[in-house]
Amino acid sequence: MSKTIDSTLQEDRTFNPAIEFTKNARINAEKLAELRQAAAQDHEGFWGNLAKSELSWHKPFSKLCDSSNAPHYTWFEDGEINVSYNCIDRHLETHGNKTAIIFEGEPGDVKKLTYQQLYTETCQFANALKAQGIQKGDRVVIYMPMIPEAVIAMQACARIGAIHSVVFGGFSAESLKDRIEDAGAKMLITADGGNRGGKIVELKKATDKALAEGCPSINSVIVYQRTAHPITMQPGRDIWWHDAIEGQATDCTPAWVSSEHPLFLLYTSGSTGKPKGVQHSSGGYLLNAAVTMQWVFDIHESDIFFCTADVGWITGHTYVTYGPLANAATIVMYEGGPVFPDAGRFWKLCQDHQITIFYTAPTAIRALMKTGDDFPNSYDLSSIRLLGTVGEPINPEAWMWYHRTIGKEKCPIVDTWWQTETGAHMLSPIPGAMATKPGSCTLALPGIDAEIVDTSGDPITAPNKGGSLVIKKPWPSMIRTIWGDDARYQKTYWGEFDNRYYVAGDNARRDKDGYFWIMGRTDDVLNVSGHRLGTMEIESALVANPKVAEAAVVGRPDELKGEAIFAYVVLKGQRPEGGIDETLTLELRNWVAEQIGPIAKPDDMRFADNLPKTRSGKIMRRLLRTIAKGEEITSDTSTLENESILDQLQGKA
Ligand code: WTA
Repeated sequence: MSKTIDSTLQEDRTFNPAIEFTKNARINAEKLAELRQAAAQDHEGFWGNLAKSELSWHKPFSKLCDSSNAPHYTWFEDGEINVSYNCIDRHLETHGNKTAIIFEGEPGDVKKLTYQQLYTETCQFANALKAQGIQKGDRVVIYMPMIPEAVIAMQACARIGAIHSVVFGGFSAESLKDRIEDAGAKMLITADGGNRGGKIVELKKATDKALAEGCPSINSVIVYQRTAHPITMQPGRDIWWHDAIEGQATDCTPAWVSSEHPLFLLYTSGSTGKPKGVQHSSGGYLLNAAVTMQWVFDIHESDIFFCTADVGWITGHTYVTYGPLANAATIVMYEGGPVFPDAGRFWKLCQDHQITIFYTAPTAIRALMKTGDDFPNSYDLSSIRLLGTVGEPINPEAWMWYHRTIGKEKCPIVDTWWQTETGAHMLSPIPGAMATKPGSCTLALPGIDAEIVDTSGDPITAPNKGGSLVIKKPWPSMIRTIWGDDARYQKTYWGEFDNRYYVAGDNARRDKDGYFWIMGRTDDVLNVSGHRLGTMEIESALVANPKVAEAAVVGRPDELKGEAIFAYVVLKGQRPEGGIDETLTLELRNWVAEQIGPIAKPDDMRFADNLPKTRSGKIMRRLLRTIAKGEEITSDTSTLENESILDQLQGKA
């Protein structure tokens, strides 16, 4: 068996940054070479120097990286720091009147907060948390729309050393409950609702449902009034945000915590079992968040930075809440859907707020590309100087459209590869210093030691041979553990090659110039619209339905979403005629939406009498993937218990 993977995609176009861009860039080719050399000479010292120059410490650290307990690594452990102090307080003297947040609600309401206002609101809310009994180390779940108060809530937690766990507002009551229970959260911060796609997202209603079904650890719920539609408040448990902050002092001394103190948990999908609570640190996490803003986004004093991600994802943590604010930058936050009221909304936001850096996901680019050039062409996009993408490989066609129609061929595109677990960008162009290629995330950043290895863990040096993407040296913003399941942490990320490398779970190849090209996940994780979903989670949701006996879920390539969800379902009762039952399909899709959230709804569903299994009872997923793609079956199917189900699975019977 071959130890590497063959690649079929070849893309040879290269794009050099415009001279105009390079001239003003923070990092040019020369500076980049210096950074790379410094990192190569002294990996830990490189990060240590940056930690000293880029962050403000209450007590300086003397330790750099401690590997004595590998694969658990600590960074700057004896240093004391506060993340909220670094994001707000230290800017007040010079940037107190600078705009920190420009917020636009879906209905069009605009609100701006200066750094001074952000300070006041964060302190007041931090005091409100304390008044509700929240202490250092307590877990607080945040289930909010994309409004400034979501950032304020995160910053307030950081300020008092509480550990936040943001749950994406699109997740269902069921998912919310699971995450609250896994984290053992004491408090939930939510809103009555949020605006999305012209409708109200019923956050408080979902909260009530989650808490009615479990979550005994929750003592109180703070509710921000955003939509002002009728909701019920439970006396003794629920308190309005505006009541909670009433009379609270507008200063709050930051809690100085060890650099290793957990800043947050963020739940993400894995291939097996329930979502895992990825635990991040304070100092190390903030360092990579802060420096990648400078290296990758070339952040300047005058920039208006718009990252379209929700705070419920890691991108919204690192490039909405923490990285930009650590750099005293101005961010744009937008509450609603990308195509509301029409597909021109993002471009209108860019025009109206004079956005200079725009960062989004390939799935959004493809969806907007499909609606034609008239939308972007009817807005003034001349303020934009840099574009970025994240979440999945971007197909060269979408890259070229982004480059031409949005960037007007003058803006570099940074295709940033990273993960919830890595905390910040890992592989990415440095826009003023490197040529880019459509579809490649180019090279590892300085201080990041990435490699592609074969199934034995040996480096693959031949160009265009694919293998497993690994990181060879620890870096400050790396995942520390999985909350409550350290064994899973060790097994998932380090087990495959005997603790030698951090294993990303992605396949990749390098071209003749050493550029990285991500080829997809190695496990059963789907990447739907840039969001990771475990096939297991969707399967568990399906079999939780009383009508379903068994289910298998696979991905199939989808032009818009990256991957679409294909579910094979075995019912407890009779299989419907021809394997198709639209009413039941609709019912099960809605069921999954209720269990997990609308993003997890299967796109296709086929009913069969059985699933294809090996003799040992393992579902033959590869076969199901082939069928989902509509490809011909070439693999050996003779070991199947019941070969006739193949026709059913293929929709032929
Ligand atoms: C995928 C999102 C190709 C990859 C920050 C990774 C990408 C997973 C890229 C992490 C990219 C992310 N090119 N693939 N530029 N960025 N991915 O945790 O499979 O939601 O492992 O973090 O998304 O997804 P996560």
